[in-house]
Amino acid sequence: MKRIVILISGRGSNMEALIAARDAGNLPVNIVAVISNRVDAEGLETAAKSGITTHFINHKAFAGREAFDSRLAQCIDEFAPDLVVLAGFMRILSDSFVRHYEGRLINIHPSLLPSFPGLHTHQRALEEGVRIHGCTVHFVTPALDHGPVIIQAAVPVLDSDDEASLSARVLRQEHLVYPQAVRWFVEDKLTIENGRVRIAAELAEPAVLVSPVLTSSGIR
Ligand code: GRF
Repeated sequence: MKRIVILISGRGSNMEALIAARDAGNLPVNIVAVISNRVDAEGLETAAKSGITTHFINHKAFAGREAFDSRLAQCIDEFAPDLVVLAGFMRILSDSFVRHYEGRLINIHPSLLPSFPGLHTHQRALEEGVRIHGCTVHFVTPALDHGPVIIQAAVPVLDSDDEASLSARVLRQEHLVYPQAVRWFVEDKLTIENGRVRIAAELAEPAVLVSPVLTSSGIR
């Protein structure tokens, strides 16, 4: 069974979704470790309760990004993972770290990339007035929040939304698409060709999301 290491910095709800998918028999992976750069990350306790090995590496204890990243890579490599999964890991990673894990490092980002890279994505989506927002799972490349896209989920933005309601709607989708992306990876269904991901799986015809919704006659 393929081995994955999950990196977190906080709540860890995406990590929990991966653990739940594994426990439900929908994700055939060995979650060999969860590593956090914050000692107070709630997800550390959740992982430990599930019997997963946890590690805390304090980024503040290192002189710079490269030094922290190299310690982090050393810790990760002790677990010999096939895939490293960033799940709310709030650190920018150095180019050398990213290159070391090229093709086996994935991230989930709470926007429809390439729109809204970086922080505060839901607030920015509201400010821009977009009607459709969402989340993206992608392979990590040295460019921040950029890299071959594996899967995206789109949700409507409602007039009544605030940051909390919109982020909750997106998060529900994150918890569905991340286990799916990891499953495709561990089943060797993903290849990258010219910077684009190809998926060797039977895929259903996607539904169209129009927001705000149109009547059946189209125009009203
Ligand atoms: C998620 O919104 C994820 O997309 C982003 O950080 C958040 C982490 O949430 N990268 P959680 O720790 O998985 O609950």
